[in-house]
Amino acid sequence: MSDKSETFGEYLQGNGVSRRDFLKFCGMMAATLALPTRYVETIANALASAGARLPIIWLEFQDCTGDSESFLRAAPRSDPLQSNLTDPGVTDLLLDFLSLDYHETVMTPAGAAAEKSLADAMAKYAGQYICVIEGSIPTAQNGAFCTIHGHTALSIARQVTAKAKATVALGTCAWDGGLAAAAPNPTKAVGVKQAVPGVQNLINLPGCPSNVVNLVATLVYYITFKTLPDLDSERRPLYAYGSVIHETCERHPHYLAKEFVQNWGDDAHRQGWCLFKMGCKGPVTRTNCNQVKWIDGTSWPVQAGHGCVGCAAANFWDDLTPIYKSLPPES
Ligand code: SF4
Ligand code: F3S
Repeated sequence: MSDKSETFGEYLQGNGVSRRDFLKFCGMMAATLALPTRYVETIANALASAGARLPIIWLEFQDCTGDSESFLRAAPRSDPLQSNLTDPGVTDLLLDFLSLDYHETVMTPAGAAAEKSLADAMAKYAGQYICVIEGSIPTAQNGAFCTIHGHTALSIARQVTAKAKATVALGTCAWDGGLAAAAPNPTKAVGVKQAVPGVQNLINLPGCPSNVVNLVATLVYYITFKTLPDLDSERRPLYAYGSVIHETCERHPHYLAKEFVQNWGDDAHRQGWCLFKMGCKGPVTRTNCNQVKWIDGTSWPVQAGHGCVGCAAANFWDDLTPIYKSLPPES
């Protein structure tokens, strides 16, 4: 954890991060945010001089903890081949530098002490903190299906978002209810936008789980420009959700040439042809998996040989299943 008086630049220096690696990280952020390269220096200057830590209150409701897992494993390096688990990268250090004041899954306090931590963080940073919500919010029976220390997720979400500077709905469950909201949806689970109508400064980062690179890029954008990135009509950042995966997929030339995998393990599969006929939902899924990738930028589902199941698309559990059923040809 950092000394609160130091800048992020000083914090990086103290952790042995070179200027070169820092600039590589800023370059990666500019590329993720689809900003011209001239913004690398703008991001570097803003991050290096960032001093006051950005308080974050992380709420976890009806979920599988996948987004927390993605967050805790954040370690994208500029050179994935040099990555190792004991060498903290700039992403780790940035997340460490930010002030995660409340996160039920990873914080030390429990029970009444955890409740106090939440109340204290909300009071101390009212109007300044970022609220991150992971998981869906059940609304049946006044939200009784998910309660924490006697309070429903519904009431906690409404209270905490009301005093937040911005709210991030992280992952598909927080976006539209996700798996818990799939038919028959016995708990009447919904995402943040429906559970807290009119929530201020909401930003949705769907994905199952959401890619931590997009969370970090959004925070970097916010620290640099003091505002949220441009959003689409679903309040998703355009830099990440502005186009469907299909358009920039490395297998797209095979799609255009009608070169399709017909069976798992066939010659076409071994040659990396298009997975459309194996049920790939890339043509209807808006996100940037193929650009930011996963596992320290190593790979992504289609590169690994499996179709996209559409985990960042709306209602994908109901609308895009069965997983291996192909989309209609005209899509
Ligand atoms: Fe890539 Fe899937 Fe589109 Fe084929 S259908 S080009 S594998 S995204
Ligand atoms: Fe999800 Fe498709 Fe990306 S399955 S992880 S949106 S490639």
